[in-house]
Amino acid sequence: MKSARCSAHAVGHEGAAAASSGALKVNHPTAGAGSAKGKGTSSGSFLTDVKTLRSRARQHMEEGAVTPDYPADVDMVVSVLNEALATEIVCVLRYKRHYFMAQGIASESVKAEFLQHANEESAHADQIAERIVQLGGEPDFNPSVLSERSHSEYVEGDSLIDMIREDLVAERIAIQSYREIVEWLRGKDPTTRRIMEEILAKEEEHAEDLNSLLLGMRQAS
Ligand SMILES: [Fe+2]
Ligand SMILES: [Fe+2]
Repeated sequence: MKSARCSAHAVGHEGAAAASSGALKVNHPTAGAGSAKGKGTSSGSFLTDVKTLRSRARQHMEEGAVTPDYPADVDMVVSVLNEALATEIVCVLRYKRHYFMAQGIASESVKAEFLQHANEESAHADQIAERIVQLGGEPDFNPSVLSERSHSEYVEGDSLIDMIREDLVAERIAIQSYREIVEWLRGKDPTTRRIMEEILAKEEEHAEDLNSLLLGMRQAS
């Protein structure tokens, strides 16, 4: 359901980044015969472009990292990032619950894994919140809407194996929705895309860790 909402966001590839990058192409005045032909012209147009860039940078300074050529709908990106932030916070809470509640013979190594994942999800939440602020948005930490906005669920689980299963389900949901977000950001916002790609890679590692724990527990029983 929530993933479908992300898919609905995945519209409108403008490709304006490619168009704007042309403004920075420079024919260096000392670059040989080709430069002699256009003496003064290329250098002049380069200077004009720099002036334009500088002037634009001074306008709307309160927009921070969001320059006029930012090709995405920044409000939509912030909204999608707030969903990812809620997902990470719910994952922190679920892993913390599992860490403190894990009991039994096999619990020590599983507890260590739960704690490591909780800390890594917390770092993801910080990365996402920081990016939201860079984009001029506000990270939403309001607890009353976190579980509603989160892609994955908070499920406590009755046994150690239930907890691992629930964490694996949550990781698989995060992987699928983050993959959609990464695709949606293609050509729109390379920095946010890179952040989400790094987080996605870590969620894939988490899923693999949990899968190995499940296999180990099945073999031991
Ligand atoms: Fe995460
Ligand atoms: Fe994770």
